[in-house]
This record gives sequence, C-alpha cells and structure tokens, in this order.
Amino acid sequence: VVDIKNGPSQGLDFLGNTLFLNGWVRTLRIQSSVTFIEINDGSCLSNMQCVIDSEAEGYDQVESGLITTGASIWVQGVVVESKGSKQKVELKVNKIVLVGKSDPSFPIQKKRASREFLRTKAHLRARTNTFGAVARVRNTLAYATHKFFQDNGFVWVSNPIITASDCEGAGEQFCVTTLIPSSHDTADSPIDAIPKINDRLVDWSKDFFGKPAFLTVSGQLNAETYATALSDVYTFGPTFRAENSNTSRHLAEFWMIEPELAFADLNDDMACATAYLQFVIRYVLNNCKEDMEFFDQWIDKGIIDRLSDVADKDFVQITYTEAVDLLSRAKKKFEFPVKWGCDLQSEHERYITEEAFSGSPDIKAFYMRQNNDGKTVAAMDLLVPGIGELVGGSQREERLEYLEARLDDLKLNKDAYWWYLDLRRYGSVPHAGFGLGFERLVQFATGMDNIRDVIPFPRTPGSAEF
Ligand code: 4AD
Ligand code: MG
Repeated sequence: VVDIKNGPSQGLDFLGNTLFLNGWVRTLRIQSSVTFIEINDGSCLSNMQCVIDSEAEGYDQVESGLITTGASIWVQGVVVESKGSKQKVELKVNKIVLVGKSDPSFPIQKKRASREFLRTKAHLRARTNTFGAVARVRNTLAYATHKFFQDNGFVWVSNPIITASDCEGAGEQFCVTTLIPSSHDTADSPIDAIPKINDRLVDWSKDFFGKPAFLTVSGQLNAETYATALSDVYTFGPTFRAENSNTSRHLAEFWMIEPELAFADLNDDMACATAYLQFVIRYVLNNCKEDMEFFDQWIDKGIIDRLSDVADKDFVQITYTEAVDLLSRAKKKFEFPVKWGCDLQSEHERYITEEAFSGSPDIKAFYMRQNNDGKTVAAMDLLVPGIGELVGGSQREERLEYLEARLDDLKLNKDAYWWYLDLRRYGSVPHAGFGLGFERLVQFATGMDNIRDVIPFPRTPGSAEF
C-alpha cells in the first residue's frame, strides 16, 4: 500500500493495474448495492479503500456479516480513480477472501480509544493509526542511528545485559535470579516460602550461577573498553533502571545509544551529540513524511516546524554555573530551590528549555573527568523542550590516580572495577561519550507525551504483562 498511496502520483500511476493486497479491516460500510472496506497493511498510515459489489467473488461473506472490523482479508482488484475526496485511487475488488475472522469483542473499534485504555491492549494497539505511526518512526530513528554512526566510522559494540558492575553507582539495578523446577524436593527447605513462576521456583540464593549479577543500567563502561581499542564505538541496546518513578519520561526498561569517542574531549562529545541529533531528526522529516504530518495534525501541532529548526539551527550552550544563575534570577517559584551544587530537577530543565532556552549537567558520576577547578566535572546534558534531559554525557576520567581517589570518595568498591581501572593502566587516552535515551528521542520526534506510548511493551512499576 505504501508504494501505491505514497508514490508521487498518489496511485494514479497504477490505474488499471490488478493488485493483490493483504491487510486488516479498519472500517466497513455496507450500503444497499455496494460495500466499502478500508484495509490497512501497516506499511503506511493510509488505508486502501476497497469497493465491493455483488459481482465480486466472495461477496457472500461480506453480505452475511462474516467480515468485520479487525478481520484479516486478502483482496484482488483493479486500481480505479476514486470519487471520494480522501484519496485519488481505490480498489475495485473482484475477489475477496476472509483469512482470519475477528470476534465482535475486538477492542479497537472506530470510536477513538484513549491511550490509557490502549496500554491495557498493548498486544493490539499497533493496529491504530497512532501506534502504527509511532512504530514506523521509531524504526526509522533506529535505522538513522546506525546510519549516522556507520557513516562516521564508528563500530557498533553489543553491550552485555547481565553484569556485576553498576555503571552509574546509584544502586538502581534489578537482580538476576535462577528458577528451579517445582518438582525439586522442598519438604524441609525454606524454599517453601519462595514464589512460584510458571511452575518453577525462584531461588534467591543462587543468583547468576552462584555469583551476584544484575541487569545493566548502562553499557558505557563496556563501550569504554572497546573505544580504547577501536577508537570510536557505540552501543545501542536495552538498559534497565530499578527506580520506582512513575513519570511520563521514565521506564524501567529503555533503549540507550551510547557512543564513546577515543582521543576526544568534552567539546568533541558535544559536537557529536549535536550532529547526531540533527542528522536523525532531519532523516525522519525526510523519510517519514506521512507519519510526521499525522503527528503534526493530531498529536502535537507545529512539530514539523519545530523539528526543522532543531535540525538546522545551532544549539545554545550554557555552563552549569550559568544555568544556576539563570534559575536563581527567574521570577518563577520552583518546588526545589536552586543553589550551586544541586542537581537540576525536571522543573528546572523545563524552565531552561521552555522559558529560557537550553543546557546543564547532572550531579557527578564517578567516571566523569574532574576539571582543574577541583569542583566541577567535564559533563554535559542536552535538554530539549517538552522532554528535558535527552542526553547525558561526559569526558571520562582517564587518570588512574584521580579515578581511584574518586571511587574511594564515593565508597565504591575498587576491586569490582579492576577491569575498568586496567584501561587506565595500559595505554590510557582522553575519551568522552554520551548516552541518549532512545524512547525520549522517539517522544521528541513524535510529540507523544507519555513514554509508555513510544515503546511497544512498556515496563514501568506494575506493568510487565505482555
Ligand atoms: O544520564 P544517564 O543516567 O547517563 C548514563 O547512563 C551514562 N552512562 C551515559 C553515557 O555517558 N554513556 O542516562 C542517559 C540518558 C538520559 O539522558 C535519558 O535520556 C535516558 O538515558 N534515561 C532514561 N530514559 C527512560 N527511562 C529512564 N528511566 C531513563 N534514565 C535515563
Ligand atoms: Mg543523566
């Protein structure tokens, strides 16, 4: 359908051609002598309007009411000019086959369903315009991400999902445990009290083959090992945070893009983040026109113009100190008062990006390189309107003695980072990188206001059903 409807002639090039289409019934209008069925095959937002009359083979299935919204069908027909104002062409059907019928309880009916309701139907919501468009834009952003880094000589590195180290040192990790068969003799064991999952018991004592292990919060430390061998690398994979925050910008499982640049400093890092963001935004604007027009019309008015500005204009850069200054001078009353040294909250980020303009660092993780002032670190955040923090990055501490001192200060166990410290023992180089939350990027590009609606199966406190 995408080739027909979104081609330059909007289908007129196909007039007179016989087509075979598969798809799902979006709407169905039975009139006295003719029936209109709109089908969608997910290739684009547009439906194909199919016109069926009693001469078509299989028309009895339409007449008897067997074909309903949600059903999957196969049609063969000829492309003709449409009299309707919504499309240039339609399909005059000569054969229709019901592939899979749809029970009348099909929950995605024409009446517009709320996003909250659709979250409870995550297995079916991709059948709606909004979620189909989000899935296609998300796919294009992923493709553009690989394209940007590959075209610029970066090597993609797969970071492990199971790890013993805590990159952010914030203790927000999920534990890995082992399941044992429930047939296991539990007569006089404390295991009785253990919850059962799919007939298997969780053995909390076992962890990862007897050793503690967690789901990764970030692939950065692993990326650094490859950057100090292959120069420029990036990861793109799932990461996990056990922070119990129910907001429209946090997920317990999200995808992160983490480039790591060797022989590079914070300025190179910021230049890379800017070039990357501008490239992927331009790429979706050019390659997802129909879906982007849909978002512009129905989800977030004006988003196309605003994104075009992001792709073309320079970003504003301000230092942490300037950001704190600006916030302390603001007339607005904040819930969290601002003073130098504090971590900026989302209300502050919103003020900076929406009322003042852009930029500010997080409070310092152990790996961030200390500046000469001894007080600040070489870190940056990239903030965007509507989302706040999209990117967090830094130059890494490449000096062994500084890094060890920092781990001690933060009471982190140096032994656990022995391999990370090794990178500073053997041919250390200045290097820098950043992490970009992929779902926040999809939110930014589509204008969707809840992060749960830009990942197929959101994982948030209390939701892991599908
Ligand atoms: O700022 P964060 O915690 O930085 C790191 O993890 C670094 N190790 C990255 C690096 O330098 N390689 O996370 C990076 C980005 C944030 O800016 C945000 O976009 C996203 O990851 N993020 C989340 N996205 C969705 N849900 C969450 N719970 C997120 N936590 C962070
Ligand atoms: Mg951050």
